[in-house]
Amino acid sequence: MADTVLECRNLWKIYGKITAVKDVSLEVKEGDIKLVFGPSGSGKSTLARCLAMLTTPTKGEVILTGENLTRSGVDLNKARARIGFVFQHIWLFHHLTALGNVELGLRQVLKLPKEEARERALQALREVKMEGWAEHYPAQMSGGQQQRVGIARALAMNPEIIILDEPTSSLDPELTGEVVDTLRDLAQKGTTMLVISHEMTFAREVADEMIFIDEGAIIERGPPELFFTNPTSERARRFMARLIKRTRRE
Ligand SMILES: Nc1ncnc2c1ncn2[C@@H]1O[C@H](COP(=O)(O)OP(=O)(O)OP(=O)(O)O)[C@@H](O)[C@H]1O
Ligand SMILES: [Mg+2]
Repeated sequence: MADTVLECRNLWKIYGKITAVKDVSLEVKEGDIKLVFGPSGSGKSTLARCLAMLTTPTKGEVILTGENLTRSGVDLNKARARIGFVFQHIWLFHHLTALGNVELGLRQVLKLPKEEARERALQALREVKMEGWAEHYPAQMSGGQQQRVGIARALAMNPEIIILDEPTSSLDPELTGEVVDTLRDLAQKGTTMLVISHEMTFAREVADEMIFIDEGAIIERGPPELFFTNPTSERARRFMARLIKRTRRE
């Protein structure tokens, strides 16, 4: 059986009166592709950020290959470097080229020598088919290309898992396609991923498990077939109907 890479147990994130994440437990095994989806404001980004320890959970545990990251005394910078994160809103340094953006973590966090960092960054850009854009600045690229550089930046660190927070939500449908193709390639290579997405074709094709979240809690989870044929909960049923209608329109 595959090993568990990342898991959370009874995770909560509370902001004042808002409970953004409510008692969520899940585990991602090596090579798994988990797809998290749900309405706007349901806590998906907060959950993703807690899993990557970019936000400290209020309660509960986050465990990365057996190491409890929510214990005190853990070197969080080290742990964060083992989890790739692709942000919902494209987030690149505008004064750096594609290569510069991808190299940055390799140089500053992993402290790799210049040549090795460059080699690894170019390899990551190759994986997302952006090697020809290495010397271009973000302003010279489309949103889809920028997001692929964001994915390359995560890949270059050679993380144990990549968490992608709605990587296509700020893109036009055509640009969405190229990012989804990149994700499909990663899936084929067996990359362990937790993807927040409403791309239902992608979900159906590659997800091992879909997890539907509403009001901070997991409402229903199961294989894509379950959601595409007969979700058990009324909330998931209604949400799926809306998503499928939208996919047909596009
Ligand atoms: N830093 C914060 N401070 C206070 N409240 C927050 C913070 N971050 C998120 N929230 C609240 O937590 C809830 C969940 O937000 P979150 O961004 O996780 O939802 P989401 O499912 O990712 O939404 P979307 O689909 O729009 O990206 C919302 O009510 C939001 O207003
Ligand atoms: Mg979000």
